[in-house]
Amino acid sequence: TNIFQGKSFLKEIDFTKDELLYLIDFAAHLKMLKQQNISHKYLAGKNIALLFEKTSTRTRAAFTTAAYDLGAHPEYLGKNDIQLGKKESVEDTAKVLGSMFDGIEYRGFSQKAVEALSEHSGVPVWNGLTDEWHPTQMLADFLTIKEHFGKLEGLTLAYVGDGRNNVANSLLITSAILGVNISIVTPEKLFPEQDLIAMAEKYAEDSKAKVLVTDDIAQGVVQADIIYTDVWVSMGEEDAFKERIDLLLPYQVNQELMAKTQKNETIFLHCLPAFHDLETEVAEEIKEKYGLSEMEVTDEVFRGENALQFQQAENRMHTIKAVMAATLGNLFIPKA
Ligand code: CP
Ligand code: NVA
Repeated sequence: TNIFQGKSFLKEIDFTKDELLYLIDFAAHLKMLKQQNISHKYLAGKNIALLFEKTSTRTRAAFTTAAYDLGAHPEYLGKNDIQLGKKESVEDTAKVLGSMFDGIEYRGFSQKAVEALSEHSGVPVWNGLTDEWHPTQMLADFLTIKEHFGKLEGLTLAYVGDGRNNVANSLLITSAILGVNISIVTPEKLFPEQDLIAMAEKYAEDSKAKVLVTDDIAQGVVQADIIYTDVWVSMGEEDAFKERIDLLLPYQVNQELMAKTQKNETIFLHCLPAFHDLETEVAEEIKEKYGLSEMEVTDEVFRGENALQFQQAENRMHTIKAVMAATLGNLFIPKA
């Protein structure tokens, strides 16, 4: 038996605390196998579809390399390659892909779409980010935290920045499930939806996590073992730069903010891509328009020795591998 077999991973609450912890530990095991060059082809002969309506570096690279390491064949289907949502319904696409592929990753806008894919394809579907959730990111984040601190329970994570995006939603709920104290530190206008806060508080009753949503930076970060931020403007929101910069500039993660923490050691995390001192095309445009070369994190913090965002990025691959192997690999996992 395998309690994960055939299941989809569409949002964090699809799995229990023990199941999420199992996937994190399984990922650590797979990471060790990879480092020792030990073969782990649990998905030999399987075909995996990778659907991307939005762009991606880490998620696409992680699914692709993880699939090959597991012995599966990944096929990338970008938004200009297939008919999905334009010429053909999600339901019809799901039926076709489900008849040819053994598993499907989907990154896009709508949570409804990823849920419909799962409902109609008959194969495991993994959410590679929607407007609402970023569940595979969570496994990598909490693996990184566990690698660093040797535990999860009782730690405090302060997420500072846009309190209403997918990553903020996911961190709020996942922390509450896992027993990690969570502060969402953001201006009142960007507080998470009330029903999400209520959901987090409900999970926190069981896990004993403390849930705090505040616009007060000092109060929000003082106990933080982890400071986490994300871009101020997510994919699909490109019109919001002016408004977000005005709201979020005081919430920039810089040395001054890091110094407001009281713990001996506070690490920095970022799901990436990050808007630090960049020389990219978009950054040049922002610099010209708004006079800003750094947004959610300063280059100084980003390059500091407690910044673990690249370890976190690598862990996307090991954790995504764990999810695919657990749900599709015919493994023996009687109980998480
Ligand atoms: N963190 C993350 O999902 O990165 P990509 O958008 O590059 O996949
Ligand atoms: N909130 C960001 C996360 C990117 C990985 C976005 O949706 O663009």
